[in-house]
Amino acid sequence: MESSHKTVAESATRINQFTNPEHANLLGNVHGGVILKLCDECGGITAARHAGLPAVTVAVDSMTFYEPVHIGQLLNLEGRITYVGRSSMEVEVIVKAENLLTGEITHTNSAFYIFVAVDGSGAPAEVPRLKLTSAEERRRFEEGRERQVRRLERAGRQISGAV
Ligand SMILES: CC(C)(COP(=O)(O)OP(=O)(O)OC[C@H]1O[C@@H](n2cnc3c(N)ncnc32)[C@H](O)[C@@H]1OP(=O)(O)O)[C@@H](O)C(=O)NCCC(=O)NCCS
Repeated sequence: MESSHKTVAESATRINQFTNPEHANLLGNVHGGVILKLCDECGGITAARHAGLPAVTVAVDSMTFYEPVHIGQLLNLEGRITYVGRSSMEVEVIVKAENLLTGEITHTNSAFYIFVAVDGSGAPAEVPRLKLTSAEERRRFEEGRERQVRRLERAGRQISGAV
């Protein structure tokens, strides 16, 4: 297959979720699992947009909870591709919580999700190359590649020579 290219902007994804009492943990804040699921959805949409194929989560890295999210805040999630291999894609997901009454916005979470595009039989499938359009995107791509090398080392694997 001839390689195609897509920019980071073409797959960048934003989703919002208003938080209700059904999302609460024992302390009355938003349950961490709710945030993890939303991050996985936001990252998965970003990856599927880039790949033009279904994408499955293969790893999650560096998920950090900086601040609690309070029930009644609006969650804003942003996903953008940082790095692609042959079939794998790293997506950075950033979560912010907005107080709709005061307008205050708090950065509550960040994580890197790694997805693999799959074909109709569930086998890894090649994704478009990432067309990098700025020095920042090139820096983020290199950082993503280094993270992927370290992940694969931990998993006892080697990075492919696809990029
Ligand atoms: C994702 C999956 C298809 C990969 O299968 P596999 O046999 O490891 O396939 P490959 O060895 O060809 O690896 C595919 C890609 O995944 C990457 N990968 C595999 N394990 C990884 C890990 N632990 N961390 C990061 N990347 C990983 C490989 O580096 C490769 O990337 P590349 O194509 O860009 O070089 C398989 O592991 C799977 O089905 N996992 C379950 C996914 C799932 O159910 N997720 C939850 C619901 S969405």
